[in-house]
Amino acid sequence: MRIHGRGPSGFDSPCERHSTLSVRHQEAKQAARAQFDRWASSYDRSWLRELIFYPAMRVCREEILRWQQRRGGGPYDLLDVGCATGRFLLSLLDSSDARQLVGLDYSAEMIRRFGEKIAALGDRRLRAVHGDAERLPFDAACFDVVTCCNSFHHYPHQAAVLREFHRVLRRGGVLVLVDGFRDNVIGWVLFDVAVGAAEKNVHHAAWSQVRQMCEAAGFAEIRQRKLNVLVPLLVTVAAK
Ligand SMILES: C[S@@+](CC[C@H](N)C(=O)[O-])C[C@H]1O[C@@H](n2cnc3c(N)ncnc32)[C@H](O)[C@@H]1O
Repeated sequence: MRIHGRGPSGFDSPCERHSTLSVRHQEAKQAARAQFDRWASSYDRSWLRELIFYPAMRVCREEILRWQQRRGGGPYDLLDVGCATGRFLLSLLDSSDARQLVGLDYSAEMIRRFGEKIAALGDRRLRAVHGDAERLPFDAACFDVVTCCNSFHHYPHQAAVLREFHRVLRRGGVLVLVDGFRDNVIGWVLFDVAVGAAEKNVHHAAWSQVRQMCEAAGFAEIRQRKLNVLVPLLVTVAAK
């Protein structure tokens, strides 16, 4: 796997194209980056773990297992977009089929902390990449699995991100996308109203919108389901 634009920091710097991106779009992304840079030191102790982060990790593991069973097993290369401190990737280290486990995040602080964990573990399958979901710094067709949990609502150009996910996946690969489900009353109050007010500049797409964007990006065999009652999550699984 070749990573483009590796910066002197040792992490990969997202290349900003200010001329083509709207100011609002840039502001939303900078705000997200600042928010997560601030949160990074306490992120692994967050009270949201049991409510949102762990259920999303569990569902990703289940879907990877299901996909592995369908294709008859074998090694896989996985990219986790919006990986924060890399917890999900670390949870996959017990899988002997996991060949490369790459985490990408827009927050330099989150990626730095993930990098520290990698250095401490010394597991050569892990990589921490500082980058933007909208312009993944990887060649086409270099991953078998792309996961993205609780991060998609921060992307101002969600359709472009899905095109990137599709581009970096190999044929036969799978996308597992998990984010807030906002299509019932609980989800709407929680994600559209409460998270929207707290985080600003976020967009929890309706399930039908996510489906349409996946189709437009070229994905097939799209399956969607709602997970949990009190904190509902939308799980979208799609094949390339
Ligand atoms: C709520 S955290 C979720 C982290 C992890 N996936 C989990 O479920 O625990 C959202 C993450 O998305 C990252 N993020 C936000 N915008 C991004 C972008 N444009 N590209 C990549 N990552 C982004 C944030 O920095 C943050 O670490």
